[in-house]
Amino acid sequence: MELSDTSVHLLINAGMSFIGFCLCLNIIPKFKDMFIRANLFGVDMSKKSKVKVPEAAGVICGAVFLVIMFLFIPVPFYKHLADPANKNFPHHEYIEYIAALLSICCMIFLGFADDVLALKWRHKLWLPTIASLPLLMVYFVNFNSTTIIVPLPFRPFLGYDTDLGVLYYVYMGMLAVFCTNAINILAGVNGLEAGQSVIIAASVLIFNFIEISGDCSAAHVFSSYFILPYTAVSAALFYHNWYPSSVFVGDTFCYFSGMTFAVVAILGHFSKTMLLFFIPQVANFIYSVPQLFRFVPCPRHRLPKYNAKTDKVEMSFAVYKQSDLKPLGKLCLSIYKLFGVVHTKENTGEDGMYSECNNLTLINLMLKFFGPLHERKLVTILLLLQILCSCVAFTIRYQVAKLFYDV
Ligand code: UD1
Ligand code: MG
Repeated sequence: MELSDTSVHLLINAGMSFIGFCLCLNIIPKFKDMFIRANLFGVDMSKKSKVKVPEAAGVICGAVFLVIMFLFIPVPFYKHLADPANKNFPHHEYIEYIAALLSICCMIFLGFADDVLALKWRHKLWLPTIASLPLLMVYFVNFNSTTIIVPLPFRPFLGYDTDLGVLYYVYMGMLAVFCTNAINILAGVNGLEAGQSVIIAASVLIFNFIEISGDCSAAHVFSSYFILPYTAVSAALFYHNWYPSSVFVGDTFCYFSGMTFAVVAILGHFSKTMLLFFIPQVANFIYSVPQLFRFVPCPRHRLPKYNAKTDKVEMSFAVYKQSDLKPLGKLCLSIYKLFGVVHTKENTGEDGMYSECNNLTLINLMLKFFGPLHERKLVTILLLLQILCSCVAFTIRYQVAKLFYDV
């Protein structure tokens, strides 16, 4: 059986990814002392010992990923490069790779700057928007297709398709902001940031392989070229970040991951499916909204509280004066109470003037339902939930979508 060019390219990419995996697995521990000497460390808040854990190990993965991609880029274009006349070089395809890498590279740099300088939240929000500009520019030049197919139930009003114009670019910019921040705020227990990213990446890979022989083959091949090495370097990081973490991934990794997902979703034209793989992150974001927009006070860290006596983690709480709570905050909390998804305590503090509510994260919500858990058990449950949500995502994509689109 003769292998097609694409299969050969994919195999080369997979081989290089495997080397990247082994490289990351080996070099991450070797960099530990260097990170600590550079003051790049954090203290694991859910452990008895307060040893320094190197932070921002994601920068090692990001660097290995970039090296793999830079070495790989000539491979799909080899035939054109070898042709002396070189008339039909597919510049439009080539520029997609370069712009995608520029956006990812930019985001790794910004994430590392965040880890070193501890940027403010308002800055963090803007960084991915700026980093996605090269990508949007290429989208404009190569496709500039801002028309979307209208779901079946809305067709009587809106017709078969509708042109979103500039709104489509706003949507894509927001997708980059969402993907990068969504992973960063579903964090705080060992292995969660890297674990969720590996599961999302594996889901994207499965989706790409299912679709690779379909109508949009080129888009899914393009996506696989990026996601294979990404999965490899992230899996190696996950190994070191798993409980008990010997390194923390840092915001560098969260931004790197989010941007990689945004890049392949935008240039691969599957942003809706990508959002389906982000169900837990979307749920965590929606649940967090009252704290993210400061309707309810938001402490610097919302990760669960460690109980050294039981060696388990418990819900963590935000403390506020009932009289200081904004009307929108009160409304949000009463809605959450109605659905039984928030735990509040009244008349706390020495003078009984304070109230408390659990920090509004999916992690704390799990602890509300399951009670205090050992950290490893908690992260296992959260990752199993991520896998379950990917199964739901595939069901929606291949079954439920039939009701809305003529697929
Ligand atoms: C985000 C969350 C914050 C959460 C933090 C944990 C929001 C708005 N921000 O902030 O609530 O507390 O991530 O990553 O939701 N750490 C651990 N164990 C871990 C991972 C991290 O103790 O498994 C601690 C370490 O001290 C580490 C620090 O968290 O140094 C890293 O926090 P950082 O990534 O700087 O926090 P943010 O991303 O700003
Ligand atoms: Mg973080």
